[in-house]
Amino acid sequence: MAPLTVWVLAGCLLGVTSAQSTEDNVFWYREAEGELEEALNNEPNRNQAKNIIVFIGDGMGIPTITAARIYKGQQQGKNGEEGHLYFEKFPHVALSKTYNPDRQVPDSAGTATAYWCGYKGNYETLGVDARVSAGQCTASRVKRNSRPCLMEWAQEAGKDTGQSLWAVGGHCGHHCEHKRSAKTPSAHRNWECDEKLGERGRDCVDIARQLVENAPGKLAKVIFGGGRQNMIANLNNTRFAPENPSACKRQDGRDLTQDWLSEKRSAGLSAKFVATTEELRSVNLSQTDHIMGLFGNSHTPYEDLRDKTLGGTPSLVEMTETAIKLLSKNEKGFFLAVEGGRIDHAHHDTKARRSLSETLQFEEAVKRAHQLTSHQDTLIVVTADHSHVMTIQGYPVRGKDILGASEKSRDDGMPYTTLFYSNGPNWNVSWNGSHVVRGDLNGVDTTAWEYTQPSGLKFKEETHGGEDVAIYATGPWSHLFHGVHEQSYIPHVISHAARIGPRADCKALKSDQACAFSSAGPPTRLQAAPLALLLLLVSWMVRPH
Ligand SMILES: *[C@@H]1O[C@H](CO)[C@@H](O)[C@H](O)[C@H]1NC(C)=O
Ligand SMILES: *[C@@H]1O[C@H](CO)[C@@H](O)[C@H](O)[C@H]1NC(C)=O
Ligand SMILES: *[C@@H]1O[C@H](CO)[C@@H](O)[C@H](O)[C@H]1NC(C)=O
Ligand SMILES: *[C@@H]1O[C@H](CO)[C@@H](O)[C@H](O)[C@H]1NC(C)=O
Repeated sequence: MAPLTVWVLAGCLLGVTSAQSTEDNVFWYREAEGELEEALNNEPNRNQAKNIIVFIGDGMGIPTITAARIYKGQQQGKNGEEGHLYFEKFPHVALSKTYNPDRQVPDSAGTATAYWCGYKGNYETLGVDARVSAGQCTASRVKRNSRPCLMEWAQEAGKDTGQSLWAVGGHCGHHCEHKRSAKTPSAHRNWECDEKLGERGRDCVDIARQLVENAPGKLAKVIFGGGRQNMIANLNNTRFAPENPSACKRQDGRDLTQDWLSEKRSAGLSAKFVATTEELRSVNLSQTDHIMGLFGNSHTPYEDLRDKTLGGTPSLVEMTETAIKLLSKNEKGFFLAVEGGRIDHAHHDTKARRSLSETLQFEEAVKRAHQLTSHQDTLIVVTADHSHVMTIQGYPVRGKDILGASEKSRDDGMPYTTLFYSNGPNWNVSWNGSHVVRGDLNGVDTTAWEYTQPSGLKFKEETHGGEDVAIYATGPWSHLFHGVHEQSYIPHVISHAARIGPRADCKALKSDQACAFSSAGPPTRLQAAPLALLLLLVSWMVRPH
């Protein structure tokens, strides 16, 4: 047989579609020309960033992005591999090294310290540096063990900043992003409400209280997320009943949402607390200074399970849009943090479809934010806190359902899924008398929302992955994301771009010339941080790290 015939035959056997035959050398040359042209037109933007939006896709490692891109295309009837997520077209991309000082594979709290505060923190600690280990309340209160972070950089100072700057810390992982508002650093991510403080945390203030009582949380204009149960005691006596038995329960009898409202109102500010889509939409943003929206007793719901009626929960996209509209009222600009918090949760359950769907919702939120702002004055950074152990395996043919399982193993002749976790709950093997055999996937719908993809090791909860994650950036100074960076580098770029925090006094903004970091200590005077604030919190209950 002539080689050509062999190839054609092989092509037929593999089910090569006609779409691929159009992907000839001319096609790839054209494709490359387009990319080259974009690259050649990619001029650095050295404007001062007025607005900053940071998107954290929790657990959104590179395999998740690749799989989500394919999933997205396949939902539109395409092969999928050739597509892209919106932010993949941002002009600058880099890698971020996510390890904690004390862990090769990080948790979300320590990584949050890196990308919000500009220094790395140990596993399960929030806002404190490597001198504090998880649960060390006393050490967490030692001032030199923390520094002011992005939120603080972005807020107006105005007081005895030297002191309050040092006093600020308290940042946390994906389940409690707004804990970052803490005045007292938190030695443990689990201290989300007073019930969890226990003996070790006796002298620490729980994170929910820090959010409403201390700067920078107290100064935030917008707080959206879940976590009602951390804020409101005796939830069964409120319209939010019933309590979620597995989430932290407030013990001090307080309703922190009411305390937050009265504090704002007594200061003459207009503040709104909302808990449904309808309530959110009824807020007249032009007449509102502060808004708090808590949309779940513990987590906000997954997008596929979300109650999309008016009495239900707004989407991440709607929350992002509302936040930007309210924050844009400030002529001096804003800082907005948006987290796609549940990409991670679905991965921990190895429910791949749900995780990819959450990633696409996150992508939509990025798109909306990009459309509502200008690349001239808005720096948008999209990244992840860490990866997961999901992998894309085998040699599936082009266009094959990314959630599917029809490839057959050469070793045992049985189908296996393309998406696979190196550890997780679905480790389905048995002993047939002489061999270990794995569960037969014939007839199993591996594309179902609730399907748990198989794993190589039996773990009750799937773990994070330790490889680098990507950073995608557009807008002023986004070209400073240009290589393989420590995760703690991210806020320093923001500080340079917006002239806030450690680089508030940098006068060399018109060039790439370096200006000195105030590395000897915190700045003596915090640059009046012109920025309004938002903390968009998607979930804050303690979950797998
Ligand atoms: C609140 O209601 C739920 C559901 O009825 C119940 O399981 C829980 O024990 C109640 N909590 C309290 C503190 O009464
Ligand atoms: C919101 O408030 C502004 C300013 O008071 C007012 O002009 C506008 O009509 C209000 N919008 C709605 C929908 O009520
Ligand atoms: C057990 O599995 C092995 C490997 O797949 C196979 O060769 C063998 O025939 C099986 N034994 C039984 C009893 O099914
Ligand atoms: C495990 O495999 C068996 C046998 O192939 C199958 O019946 C069962 O549903 C599988 N369990 C899970 C959790 O996938």
